[in-house]
Amino acid sequence: MREQESSSGSSTLGRGTVLPLWFDQLLKLLATGGAVTGIYVVLLVFFGASPKTIASGYMPEQPIPYSHALHVGELGLDCRYCHTTVEKAAFAAIPPTQTCMNCHERVFPESPDLEPVRTSFATGLPVNWVKVHDLPDYVYFNHSAHVTRGISCVSCHGRIDRMVEVYQHEPLNMGWCLRCHRNPARNLRPVDRVTDLGWGLDRSEEEKDSQGREIMKGLGLLDTEGNPTERMTLLTNCSTCHR
Ligand code: HEC
Ligand code: HEC
Ligand code: HEC
Ligand code: HEC
Ligand code: HEC
Repeated sequence: MREQESSSGSSTLGRGTVLPLWFDQLLKLLATGGAVTGIYVVLLVFFGASPKTIASGYMPEQPIPYSHALHVGELGLDCRYCHTTVEKAAFAAIPPTQTCMNCHERVFPESPDLEPVRTSFATGLPVNWVKVHDLPDYVYFNHSAHVTRGISCVSCHGRIDRMVEVYQHEPLNMGWCLRCHRNPARNLRPVDRVTDLGWGLDRSEEEKDSQGREIMKGLGLLDTEGNPTERMTLLTNCSTCHR
């Protein structure tokens, strides 16, 4: 499903940048090479300032009016009930129709809004959900690396538990990734709270900072004195995200 979308996605949606072939080579060169600061700065200014990279607010129409506000906010379902691979894999799976049918075989079995779910279940063809968040293929991203280390879904997707329709809350551009990678402290929380989107909102910025720095020590991003480690410098290394 992912493959199909990325092959048609970039041109039809007009999001993300369609890059020439030399780009791959250039990235490899940049990722491995040393004295490239000059090119790097030029590229960053040129691309980083490009308005094309900002797509916050993107909210495509979905084939079924499935509401996270209802299923998560009101019914209290955990994200992992449906997005089952988010802790184990790079990709956070979109649930198969069976997951919906666990309840909707009995709950609202006649609802016209659920017609596409029943058709999908009967035919075995998946529901055509439209992808909301989509990084260019030359960027490497990994859910499990974030979620199992204490970065909550809310840091990157906003209050999904209040969204009737999912939209892209953050720009997802390189500057945005790097802002957190340079200092993730305030976005780190205990791992068992990552899907509890409203957790810890009452903490002051100082508390977030000091708690986050403790977690960073646990991850080996800061040493016992609180100085950045080698592992910390890897977070801003080109080859971490472009490999
Ligand atoms: C009952 C199943 C279910 C639960 C529980 C659920 N989701 Fe979803 N989620 C879906 C479905 C179906 C879609 C695809 C349709 C859409 O985008 O609304 C989706 C889409 C998404 C997307 C957009 C994916 C894309 O296309 O880019 C994000 C982000 C997301 N969910 C995050 C969450 C988070 C965070 C939670 C927990 C707070 C959660 N979901 C809980 C079923 C669920
Ligand atoms: C844990 C049980 C459960 C699961 C799993 C579940 N739902 Fe629901 N869903 C409900 C309940 C309960 C309601 C009705 C809430 C109410 O209005 O009382 C509902 C309502 C809905 C409605 C509104 C129907 C109408 O006629 O108003 C839609 C659409 C819907 N769900 C889609 C989905 C989809 C799509 C999935 C799978 C991604 C899904 N649901 C998974 C329990 C579930
Ligand atoms: C560090 C930021 C970050 C965190 C934390 C995060 N996501 Fe995502 N999510 C993304 C990005 C970026 C994409 C687009 C990935 C792509 O296009 O390759 C995405 C895409 C998705 C998708 C669409 C399917 C996919 O994998 O492309 C779902 C569903 C989703 N996220 C759910 C979640 C849930 C649930 C959580 C929390 C348990 C979560 N995300 C935590 C950044 C994040
Ligand atoms: C809110 C903070 C935050 C945001 C936003 C964020 N990251 Fe991260 N990222 C982290 C943390 C924390 C780690 C884990 C560091 C560690 O354990 O060494 C990490 C790790 C990674 C890793 C290393 C995975 C591995 O184990 O090899 C990659 C790749 C990565 N992030 C890519 C991205 C990309 C691409 C984006 C933007 C689309 C992004 N991140 C946005 C905080 C963030
Ligand atoms: C934390 C992850 C991360 C790191 C580290 C990173 N990038 Fe990126 N880079 C991204 C993301 C995400 C995009 C996609 C931007 C978009 O679609 O808006 C991107 C896009 C680009 C682009 C394409 C132009 C653009 O902005 O759309 C170039 C060139 C680039 N990066 C070069 C570099 C170089 C050189 C380095 C090392 C100095 C680097 N990147 C380090 C995440 C990262």
